[in-house]
Amino acid sequence: MRTVLRVVVLLVLCCAAGAAIAQGSVPLEPGPHSALDPAGPQADHIGQLWNLFMTICTLVFVAVLVAFGFAIARGRRRADASTPPDLSSLGRHERGPYRSVVAGVVISVLLLLVLLFASVTTDRALARLPLASALHLEVTGHQWWWEVRYDADPASGSFTTANEIHVPVGRPVIVTLKSDDVIHSLWVPNLAGKKDLIPGRTALLQFRADHVGIYRGQCAEFCGFQHAAMAFEVIADPPAQYQAWESRQRAEAAPPGEARAQRGQQVFLGSTCVMCHAIQGTTAMALKAPDLTHVGGRTTLAAGVLPNTAADMKRWIRDPQKIKPGTTMPASTLPDADLDALVAYLGSLQ
Ligand code: CUA
Repeated sequence: MRTVLRVVVLLVLCCAAGAAIAQGSVPLEPGPHSALDPAGPQADHIGQLWNLFMTICTLVFVAVLVAFGFAIARGRRRADASTPPDLSSLGRHERGPYRSVVAGVVISVLLLLVLLFASVTTDRALARLPLASALHLEVTGHQWWWEVRYDADPASGSFTTANEIHVPVGRPVIVTLKSDDVIHSLWVPNLAGKKDLIPGRTALLQFRADHVGIYRGQCAEFCGFQHAAMAFEVIADPPAQYQAWESRQRAEAAPPGEARAQRGQQVFLGSTCVMCHAIQGTTAMALKAPDLTHVGGRTTLAAGVLPNTAADMKRWIRDPQKIKPGTTMPASTLPDADLDALVAYLGSLQ
């Protein structure tokens, strides 16, 4: 009885460990950051492959545990008799166990071949995404934010944004990936697999969003202190809405209207902000940090760390190290009134 109890406890512990590992590696809930809630063909192929792996591995796991439990229970029963072990079978060719081993090897090889075939088929399916009239983007990884450049022909129509990628629904997207410092990895589970951004190299990632929505992306390669705080959003808009967004982004920043925002622009242009940031249409042209031309229209600040509200923007500018320790942005020594004016100006940059 005690043996059976031990086997049951062992089985329960193994199943719990398996479930915990699966839960940690892939978010199992459907939502804006889940590989199991595909919103495009690439993520769909990967999701199907994951389901197949999960099903086969679960069946094998359960079969192995059942065999294991059976062996423990049987071995115990035999050992209970206080007779010396029967070693006469060691020199004998036993048909039963021999057949079991051969069957086990054959089944394992066949299952591994099924998984190999499924992986190769998925890889080929990923490479077959139709790319006619694709949208071209360039994403550069920085410690710890994402620079997103939309190229255009002529180049004067190009523009740069940060930590937010807008794409039109139904149109393929080709992303060129680069890194400015260390290795990062771009991962939007609902849309595509991971792809590394490696310094000195370029990589390509193709995907298509088939459903309107906001999908969360995350850096998936440890890249330093704030690796976990290196998120972004992919916003899949209907084509007309995307076009409107693109034309707004292409435009230079509108001159500030109200007096407080005008004062804010003076503060911005007269402070150290211009050493790192650019606002198109002004004299601020630095490329070290996110382009702020349309920062007011973004949903988050500091690569997904804060919502883009006036209060959070003020908190962020006053002491970024408190919110995201290690970030390259220094704390501000501006008087409160100047800070409020600066926040009003940045908020007006829609
Ligand atoms: Cu960038 Cu981790």
